[in-house]
Amino acid sequence: MPTLQAVRGMNDVLPDEAGLWLEFEARVHGWLGRYGYRNIRTPLVEHSQLFRRAIGEATDIVEKEMYSWRDELNEEELTLRPEGTASCVRAAIEHSLLHDGPKRLWYAGPMYRHERPQKGRYRQFHQYGVEAMGFPGPDVDAEHIAMCAALWRELGLANIRLELNNIGSPEERARYRADLVRHLEKHQDRLDADAKRRMHTNPLRTLDSKNPMVQEVVASAPSLAGYLGEDSRAHFDGLKRLLAECKIDYSINPRLVRGLDYYNLTVFEWISPDLGAQGTVCGGGRYDGLFAQLGGKPAPATGFAMGNERLIALLSDAGRKPAPPLPHAYVVYQGEGTLECAFAVSEELRSRGLSVLMHAGGGGFKAQMKRADSSGAQYALIIGEDELKAGEVSVKPLRADRPQTRVRRDRVAAAFEES
Ligand code: HAM
Repeated sequence: MPTLQAVRGMNDVLPDEAGLWLEFEARVHGWLGRYGYRNIRTPLVEHSQLFRRAIGEATDIVEKEMYSWRDELNEEELTLRPEGTASCVRAAIEHSLLHDGPKRLWYAGPMYRHERPQKGRYRQFHQYGVEAMGFPGPDVDAEHIAMCAALWRELGLANIRLELNNIGSPEERARYRADLVRHLEKHQDRLDADAKRRMHTNPLRTLDSKNPMVQEVVASAPSLAGYLGEDSRAHFDGLKRLLAECKIDYSINPRLVRGLDYYNLTVFEWISPDLGAQGTVCGGGRYDGLFAQLGGKPAPATGFAMGNERLIALLSDAGRKPAPPLPHAYVVYQGEGTLECAFAVSEELRSRGLSVLMHAGGGGFKAQMKRADSSGAQYALIIGEDELKAGEVSVKPLRADRPQTRVRRDRVAAAFEES
């Protein structure tokens, strides 16, 4: 029978790597707390309609990347979440989360997109997402960007640059879109099949085409910036003032439109040149229309999400590998009745906050001591029939040149605390 393997594009995180994940997660949790964000947890599975309406029918995600199926029992179309913003807004509407004011929320977990797997691009990947709901001003857009900058600093990741764009209001984009389509139609002969298709479904996505010929056509197209009204420009100016205040560098990328349709005004991406083609470690922006689009009371909102695999790859490439935590003690036992004693001593020490590995799997004294040594523990606690009779435990330092001692069983924890 062929051996079973993980599904393509879905990865195991093995114990040697998981230490870095845990350290990353602990730092992110501290950082989120410092900015006053509160955790929200939504299901991995939602009605497909949620993503179709939120992300947009003519996006890559909805057109070809969703893991969707029909639940025959309940006659429902369901989808494994490809991102977290839609679920967050759905939950905020469903539970009237904004009834007593705006909310700052974060979520974490796996997302699913049926993309072509390659380094940095997976079919199951993990995000931290941050959403600020009910805030209309550019101050919260700036807060999010400043938050990201602070996290990269804290993680010691210096080489991540910020790209920013203002994509205006839906009305401004509609006017621009009409002129852009006219321009694209005029140059149809130089468009590839994808751009030709996009021209009518989602023409703004042709702006970030990677094909040099399409890029040339786009370069001579009218610019979205020329279609922005006073309010849109004022919002963006407000954001830029705050970024200047906290000395955050950025470049304006007029072709940055993002791959999800719910954005307006501010959009941004953080990109690392050290990750090759999949260099975007974080992306987000404002989505003031999404509450109403999903049937809720209109509410302004803005947010971003970062890709854990990509950030952790940067940390790993920088040689950041936390040492695995070592146990304080390894408990070795041999002889009639010693197992029960070893069990009780181990539990007692753990209840006092010490980390204790108890030998398991049998074997003689010598073999057990070998395991104690390779466990990295500071001490071996030895319980033989002698110790059992005397109500004592032998304590053998494994990492220091000190003699073995005998300690009364009820004094072992205290002896550790004193050492
Ligand atoms: P997104 O740009 O689709 O935005 O994803 C955010 C981040 O998730 C990306 O910058 C990337 O680091 C990571 N990512 C995306 N797809 C993959 C993949 N296939 N493999 C590995 N990493 C990936 C969103 O998801 C929006 N919900 C962000 C947002 C929140 N906007 C407003 N609020």
